[in-house]
Amino acid sequence: MTAGLLNVATEKRRTLRESQRVSFDVRLNGHRSRHWSTPSGGATLRLKEENRYRTFVDLERIACRLPAAIWHSPGGPREVTIWCSNDYLGMSQNAAVVQAMVDTAIRLGTGSGGTRNIAGTNHPLVELERELADLHAKPAALVFTSGYVANQSSISTIAKLIPNCLILSDELNHNSMIEGVNQSNCVKQVFRHNDLGHLEQLLTSAGQRRPKIVLFESLYSMDGDFAPIGAICDLAKRHNAMTYCDEVHAVGMYGATGAGIAERDGVSGLVDVIEGTLAKAYGGLGGYIAGSARLVDAVRSYASGFIFTTALPPPVCAAALAAIRHLKSSNHERLRHQENAARLKRLICGAALPLRPTDSHILPIMVRDSEQCQKASALLLEDHAIYIQPINYPTVPRGAERLRISRRFTRTCKSIVS
Ligand SMILES: Cc1ncc(COP(=O)(O)O)c(C=O)c1O
Repeated sequence: MTAGLLNVATEKRRTLRESQRVSFDVRLNGHRSRHWSTPSGGATLRLKEENRYRTFVDLERIACRLPAAIWHSPGGPREVTIWCSNDYLGMSQNAAVVQAMVDTAIRLGTGSGGTRNIAGTNHPLVELERELADLHAKPAALVFTSGYVANQSSISTIAKLIPNCLILSDELNHNSMIEGVNQSNCVKQVFRHNDLGHLEQLLTSAGQRRPKIVLFESLYSMDGDFAPIGAICDLAKRHNAMTYCDEVHAVGMYGATGAGIAERDGVSGLVDVIEGTLAKAYGGLGGYIAGSARLVDAVRSYASGFIFTTALPPPVCAAALAAIRHLKSSNHERLRHQENAARLKRLICGAALPLRPTDSHILPIMVRDSEQCQKASALLLEDHAIYIQPINYPTVPRGAERLRISRRFTRTCKSIVS
């Protein structure tokens, strides 16, 4: 009896100890192994010592007075101006976009009800995919829950489905693309940023017969420079390679209908897969790929990041659809934003600040020191009510820390929803 009670008490203590720990499930090749441990406090301490521990500023954007926001500061609420939003054109607060979201929520509810397979293929999502395919002049498009997931799932799936695929990836590609490459388990070679000579060298040594895919971005989000899309695609075609271009920071922003740099440069037809987001210029949430019907169908059928997660809610799809349609026919926001960026560029250069030269709307001020970068950001917020997040390693290399400005024009409008 006593022994039994002791056993129960020991078991309880053991369960309590284990529940106080953090469990990490590691899935490797479908096998599951369980490790019990807690992350070492030293890991976060190291980030703090290196001045790259991330802190979040508690903001509340003011719908009709973009880019104004309330900062819930330690000393109480204060009005500030956001200088680093990727809601570049303020579409998250566009009256037609908000109305589409509200109307759809009232008609269809707020959630999608499941994965695409089970209950999530709602009509606004189908319409959204048609609109995206049309935007990029491709036969088909597929929507994911984010641009990150779109890259990670599509790249890994496409590469895995091509036997002996060699991946050639620009050295500045976004983490979502790198993760897609890693998950594919394919051989990868990294080419120097936008270096056509280096890419050609790698393509040549791979040989014509080896299946190859070239991964790159059209507009690099941290440096603000463009890729020579046409030249990369020409080169890839000559070497029998497929092309995959991330247009996340360019869709909605460039091209006559907002289809991105490929549209602006008249080379959309040369790119095999265009990947984009609904979360930046379109002001919502979600990501997508557009390409041939066969390729999109293969990704739809095999990508676990597409299959095993709940679909985007109908109101989110309806809002994205309204934003895409609006920016397809309206150039006004794009032009105003470009003018604004050019004006700001002149002011920054006039003030002799170390602006990295860029032709795009992204303006990186190079601080090149993580501590100074954090200090500059804090000073701007506290003394000047300007919010610009410091960009540190690993988002950029050490020594390339910066303040990345993407300031939109001031907008006032009547209340969106009465
Ligand atoms: C180049 C690039 N690709 C993909 C993504 C991921 O897009 P999303 O924010 O929609 O997940 C980002 C995010 O900032 C990005 O900069």
